[in-house]
Amino acid sequence: VRDYYWAGVDAGRVWQLVTSHHEGGSPVGQPVDIEELEAAVHDKLEQRTFDYIAGGAGAERTVRANRAAFARRFLLPRVLVGVAERDLSTALLGTPLSMPVILAPTGAHGLVHPDGEVETVRGAAVASTLMAVSGGSTMSLEEIARAASPRPRLWHHLYFHPNRAVTEWLIERAQQAGYSALVVTADAPVLGRRDRDLRNNLAPLQLRIGNYDSLPPGVSEIGDSTSFVTNPGLTWTDVTWLRSRTTLPVVVKGILRPDDAVRAVDAGADAVWVSNHGGRQLDGAVATLDALPAVVAALDGRVPVIQDGGVRRGTDVLVALALGAAAVAVGRPQLWGLAMAGADGVQHVLRTLRDELSIAMALAGCRSIRDVDTSLIA
Ligand SMILES: Cc1cc2nc3c(=O)[nH]c(=O)nc-3n(C[C@H](O)[C@H](O)[C@H](O)COP(=O)(O)O)c2cc1C
Repeated sequence: VRDYYWAGVDAGRVWQLVTSHHEGGSPVGQPVDIEELEAAVHDKLEQRTFDYIAGGAGAERTVRANRAAFARRFLLPRVLVGVAERDLSTALLGTPLSMPVILAPTGAHGLVHPDGEVETVRGAAVASTLMAVSGGSTMSLEEIARAASPRPRLWHHLYFHPNRAVTEWLIERAQQAGYSALVVTADAPVLGRRDRDLRNNLAPLQLRIGNYDSLPPGVSEIGDSTSFVTNPGLTWTDVTWLRSRTTLPVVVKGILRPDDAVRAVDAGADAVWVSNHGGRQLDGAVATLDALPAVVAALDGRVPVIQDGGVRRGTDVLVALALGAAAVAVGRPQLWGLAMAGADGVQHVLRTLRDELSIAMALAGCRSIRDVDTSLIA
């Protein structure tokens, strides 16, 4: 166990101060934090695969801004409130979670692990948290749901196919398989221009897209993947349509403006997800943490707000929650964990965030997630 012990003799008694991983323990040689994990994965993956995941659009200003926004925030810890017992659990749209950290939809896990999302969801299941699964998953949504049973905590990120029959077929399948919400990604009408991928001459991913192994009755052609991973024609009317088409909660992801957040709820959204796609779409888009407070204020508690982009530490989770997020999501970190050690790696990422959050809550004077409020922000 990578604990550091300082043993000293004081008046005949031996004091042992145990620092850092006293809550979970981290086997020797495992990365202590997510940045260290990313560096280790960098050494392991092919450069262009690493770049595809780590990179963003254009000059990557927004990628950097997401992290920088956390670096600018400081905490005002509350002291002497008794934090021996801490409860990190919460719930999101009726799904109980061990902590307010979920997995953001990221496509093509087969790129870094042969069993792809089946491994990822096993890691998430051990951590008792939720995985929002990309519609562009390597494994089919049914295979992923089976791996998550008996208690799947799954949301399906729905691609709107130009052929409505295909979209309806995906909705039906997600409902049947036990997914408990549908996520509409609003910030990808076209794909961002990703300079690293262009520089690396990254060819279109030759990967299985498990959800299209078969086709719905009466549909003989699905088109190439570019025709359904983006949909430049998507509008609020489609969100309203989806709301009327399913009984599942609808989550709109990729919101940065307060007026759009209100519009999403008016169109029937049950949660709003503040995201700039990890800086992979519009370079120069505002950092999500900077966009969060105005969205939270405009929604005034009508629906929960999720934030993603640059969350790498438990203290980041604490800050986002203090600014009004109900939960945060991590994108790249799950892929670093998956690339490093499959389900165990994903679990390691989630446990690291959990340990860090638990300690941060204790040190900031929070016994439960309910105690995390704006007064903690300096
Ligand atoms: C490799 C990769 C693939 C992604 N694929 C999707 C996707 O299919 N749908 C989607 O809505 N967002 C996608 N995202 C964006 C994530 O859901 C999330 O918004 C972002 O990664 C959060 O930022 P972070 O990586 O700094 O945590 C992807 C991100 C990455 C890194």
